[in-house]
Amino acid sequence: MYKDLLIYYFSGTGNALTASRWIEEYAQKKGLKTSLVSIDRWEKIVVPAAAGKRLIGFCFPTHGFNLPWIMLTFIVRFPKMKGGDVFLLNTRAGLKFSQWFVPGISGLAQILPALILLIKGFRIRGMFPLDMPSNWIALHPGLNPPTVADISARCRGRVNDFCGKIFNGRMYFRPNVFIMLPLDIALAPIAFMYFMYGRFFFAKIFIASTDCDACNLCAAKCPTASIEIINKRPFWRFTCESCMRCINICPRQAIQVSHSLAVFIIVSSSFLPTALVLEYFNSFIPAILIRPVDFLIKWGISLSLFFLVSGLVFRLLKIGLINKFFTATSLTRYWRRYLAKGIKAKDY
Ligand SMILES: Cc1cc2nc3c(=O)[nH]c(=O)nc-3n(C[C@H](O)[C@H](O)[C@H](O)COP(=O)(O)O)c2cc1C
Ligand code: SF4
Ligand code: SF4
Repeated sequence: MYKDLLIYYFSGTGNALTASRWIEEYAQKKGLKTSLVSIDRWEKIVVPAAAGKRLIGFCFPTHGFNLPWIMLTFIVRFPKMKGGDVFLLNTRAGLKFSQWFVPGISGLAQILPALILLIKGFRIRGMFPLDMPSNWIALHPGLNPPTVADISARCRGRVNDFCGKIFNGRMYFRPNVFIMLPLDIALAPIAFMYFMYGRFFFAKIFIASTDCDACNLCAAKCPTASIEIINKRPFWRFTCESCMRCINICPRQAIQVSHSLAVFIIVSSSFLPTALVLEYFNSFIPAILIRPVDFLIKWGISLSLFFLVSGLVFRLLKIGLINKFFTATSLTRYWRRYLAKGIKAKDY
């Protein structure tokens, strides 16, 4: 059986990292040589030599019914390996209401990387969606500690089941992977729109309140180097993955997801006379291409708007009163933060 475990992980708030560590711990008890490799800011892929038959894992969160862009590009560029054994583990938004555990939704987060790896010659040994505590605090407050503890304990048990099978040469596909398959595929258009719009929109609605003391921690720990400190204040670039790390590790809780800025961007986009621009361009375009070209033009206009409006607000935030307005109208100002149990900024 396996002698070597190599896991590549990406983790915003520590869920995928925690799951990777649980798997590593199990493998070490079985005597395997193990390596956990973070893909934060990756540039070149160097696959270390194996100590015997190797199992490779890719662990990452689910973002917008898909895998994060950073992990997708990593897997696309990963070397081909005919007959190499791999597993995929995507952590999702697990919730709990009363005694009921509510699972997240994978969408394309497993199907897409599995297809890419199959084309590269790998054998998929496991596809494992793991419902860790939801970290999407742009949408809801961080879960309370007892709920986090319950959800995490349940996940730990599931990871042990997974390890028991996969390290004994069996395949592991959670039954609901196939039951959920039609829903996951039906969500493909939303996953596509998240790729094209959502991730850029969410990247542009972070702000730093006047509590920020320009300590630089968020910029130093960002996995995609998307924060630039300009005039002693963080500025978020489009490359941000919305992984929620910066907002959760800021020692002064100065980072907010600004819901008022989100509304501002949406409203200003809807006022834009895109119809006029499109009408002008459409007269030059063959009928069959009008729809895709319309889409691309709207996409370009929206992205420019996200950039312009958030850039304008970034400048205005220097003014104390305006900063206070956007901070006070950010729901995250009143919400609990989330990091997986035991995870600290130094883990990144
Ligand atoms: C921008 C964003 C999008 C998300 N989209 C989904 C989703 O489509 N489905 C889901 O189940 N969870 C979704 N989540 C929740 C995370 O995937 C989940 O909490 C994950 O366990 C976080 O792992 P990490 O701590 O390793 O980053 C999303 C979270 C964020 C921040
Ligand atoms: S971590 Fe917080 S206080 Fe430090 S620079 Fe970033 S926003 Fe400012
Ligand atoms: S800017 Fe923040 S949310 Fe965006 S990728 Fe970096 S750490 Fe994650």
